[in-house]
Amino acid sequence: MNNREHWGSKAGFILAAAGSAIGLGNIWKFPYIAGENGGAAFVFIYLICIALIGLPVLIAEIMMGRTTQRNPVGAFKKLSGKPFWVAVGSLGVIAGFVILSFYTVIAGWSIGYIVEALKGSFSQFSDPGVSSAYFESQVGNVTWIVGYHTLFSFLTMGVVFAGINKGIEKGSKIMMPVLFFLLILLVIRGVTLPGAEKGLAFLWSPDWSKISGQSVLIALGHAFFTISLGMGAMMTYGSYLSEKDHVPSAALQIVILDTFIALLAGIAIFSSVFAMGQDPAAGPGLIFHTLPVVFAKMPGGVVWAVLFFLLLTVAALTSAISLLEVVVAYFVDERKWKRQNAVMVFGFVVLLIGIPSALSFNVMKDVHFFGKTWFDNADYLASNILLPGGGFFIAIFVGWIWGFDTVLIELKKGSESLFDKYPIVIKAWKIFLRFLAPVMIFVVFLHSVDLLESVWHQIHMQWVIIIIQVAILIKLFHKKK
Ligand code: TRP
Repeated sequence: MNNREHWGSKAGFILAAAGSAIGLGNIWKFPYIAGENGGAAFVFIYLICIALIGLPVLIAEIMMGRTTQRNPVGAFKKLSGKPFWVAVGSLGVIAGFVILSFYTVIAGWSIGYIVEALKGSFSQFSDPGVSSAYFESQVGNVTWIVGYHTLFSFLTMGVVFAGINKGIEKGSKIMMPVLFFLLILLVIRGVTLPGAEKGLAFLWSPDWSKISGQSVLIALGHAFFTISLGMGAMMTYGSYLSEKDHVPSAALQIVILDTFIALLAGIAIFSSVFAMGQDPAAGPGLIFHTLPVVFAKMPGGVVWAVLFFLLLTVAALTSAISLLEVVVAYFVDERKWKRQNAVMVFGFVVLLIGIPSALSFNVMKDVHFFGKTWFDNADYLASNILLPGGGFFIAIFVGWIWGFDTVLIELKKGSESLFDKYPIVIKAWKIFLRFLAPVMIFVVFLHSVDLLESVWHQIHMQWVIIIIQVAILIKLFHKKK
């Protein structure tokens, strides 16, 4: 093998990949979307999406990375070479830039809130009205928001700069146990508050009336985001694996860890929110508006607030490094850059692209492109177009184009026992990957197109893109025969 770095141990890979998966998606987003969509009923649907669609696509992504030992562009180049597929890989690298640029802004708030908590700013929060006004004034402050965005970007660059073993693997091995420990503390604090049982009941007793087609789509979209699927982040991490590693078992462990942490975060947050008599369906503001009020009312609230935002920052950091690593791996593999140079140059580029996202909460609040702020556009582009698009094409590629016999030979390396003992699992994987995943992702994609009521010409653009993509696919299938 060449001088490409590899994970020092299987645990190192699993912790790093779980670190990528566990992020703002688990601790900020999952609790509030579950809160808005009926609690337990939503959680149930989400678990099904994770098991039937998320896990099969995760295995496919890791496989592509391990086989090719490349970033997404290099992987598609090596396995197909057709410009269309190389373009799919490139979209992954672009998605890395886009997601990271706004992810660091929210993660920056989290660092900012550690500092605010330490300063005792939360003690005056008597109700969510006060705390949301405070939040608005913080994000309205350009120095505050850009400053913390920059600080978080530098932290991310620092870890990736140090490389796979000394940076990402070592960092994950330290940060993941810390994250776990902090979360357990917060869960214990939450469930021991008087009145916490109402929060737990909310999380465990389903309200099926709140479930609509829309919640199913939100659940699937979130399943992709939370396991870092659809843009080659897991592919890139998989590219530092060797042939002796058992991919399906690693993928299963990553998914279980990710789900477990999301549920624990839900428990910690809802038990406290209900115990303190706050609204569980507060939406995206649940963490930054509602929780500070909860902490203000809680004995020893300052300490809990600091621990909570520290947890959020650590979770975001282990995810952000996986996003930057995709971009860096591309420049290292394909353009022969030195890792350190790639980190400094592109880390900085991401930092700059993120500034308009940070400014979307203050001076650029009213500057709209396609009817949205820069921040909302970045989020929309990534979460509704690039990730589902990427997930769709990865499922199609591994399911249909790569050559399933080769796929099975590659998958078998390191996991012979699974093939011998449970051939049915492999069969199920094939069916989920070939049919269920692409169809479901496509439905989500169509749905997110419909959501775009604001600008008509954009809707037309979307349809044009879909038709072109389908046409290309039909053409590809023809060639194969
Ligand atoms: N999974 C992370 C979260 O839950 C976010 C993330 C990191 C991500 N890398 C990704 C999402 C790659 C999609 C693709 O917060």
